Amino acid sequence: MPLHSVFSPLRLFLPILVLGATLFLCLADATAQADTTAIPDTLAQRVAACTACHGKEGRAASDGYYPRIAGKPAGYLYNQLINFREGKRHYPVMTAMLDNLSDAYLREIAAYFASQHPPFPAPQPSNATPAELERGRQLVHEGDSKRSIPACIACHGTRMTGVTPGIPGLIGLPRDYLLGQIGAWKIGTRRASAPDCMAHIVSKMQPEDVSAVASWLAAQTVPTDSQPLPAPALPLLPRECGGVPQGVSP
Ligand code: HEC
Ligand code: HEC
Repeated sequence: MPLHSVFSPLRLFLPILVLGATLFLCLADATAQADTTAIPDTLAQRVAACTACHGKEGRAASDGYYPRIAGKPAGYLYNQLINFREGKRHYPVMTAMLDNLSDAYLREIAAYFASQHPPFPAPQPSNATPAELERGRQLVHEGDSKRSIPACIACHGTRMTGVTPGIPGLIGLPRDYLLGQIGAWKIGTRRASAPDCMAHIVSKMQPEDVSAVASWLAAQTVPTDSQPLPAPALPLLPRECGGVPQGVSP
């Protein structure tokens, strides 16, 4: 995603409006109902401020900017909440919401979204050339040993649906989101716990590699069973990754 679209004033301002309106509606609703019925104090009710941006059940917003959080491994979601809170990832409106929440509560929120499985959108039609798509498929499935790029599936799972507890899936995500995240690692605005294996891998990728993997991944259909694989299903990771327990080797 070009930087100007990430940082355009509308991009930053719109969410604040959405959030303001949501909080206002929640408050208004509470006042209206106070006399009659108590609002059910469920986690689903309490994360309404999150789903205002992330879509119903965390399925992502249709504009492709607010990412899907539903069904991603709980450990991965928790790590991201901590990363936003600690400034390893940046989205000020969201970070402000996390500031006062305890680690235990963040774990609960992560587990809640990990257990949601709303349907995925259809794959995106691709404008990429067959050669570019083939390069993307090759990087994802085989890597590029000449450039020391491991196959993405070696960590993200053979079905590319992620691996519990800490590795997210790579399919069902829009091309712009993939480009945005890989680009953020490249320029250092997204970091993961050390050793940051993704930062290392991204540093080996040329711009055309990034474009090829994002185009190919976004064009794939999510398998019917979109659940992340359980950790023992994965052989030893090609590199150590912070935030991913090393118990993943059999
Ligand atoms: C104002 C809109 C907004 C609100 C409200 C919001 N988020 Fe986000 N969230 C975003 C955006 C935008 C990103 C992607 C930022 C980036 O590019 O790294 C994001 C990223 C995330 C991620 C990382 C996703 C991934 O796959 O790596 C998680 C997890 C997350 N949000 C959880 C939450 C939770 C939980 C709440 C409620 C406490 C929340 N968000 C509220 C906009 C929002
Ligand atoms: C050595 C293991 C490993 C390999 C190989 C690997 N990844 Fe990752 N990837 C991870 C981990 C761990 C995370 C979660 C990092 C974090 O906590 O922020 C991740 C996260 C990501 C994300 C963020 C997803 C989201 O929802 O925000 C993208 C995109 C990604 N990887 C793309 C790739 C691509 C493309 C390749 C192949 C070129 C690849 N990865 C290879 C371990 C790996």
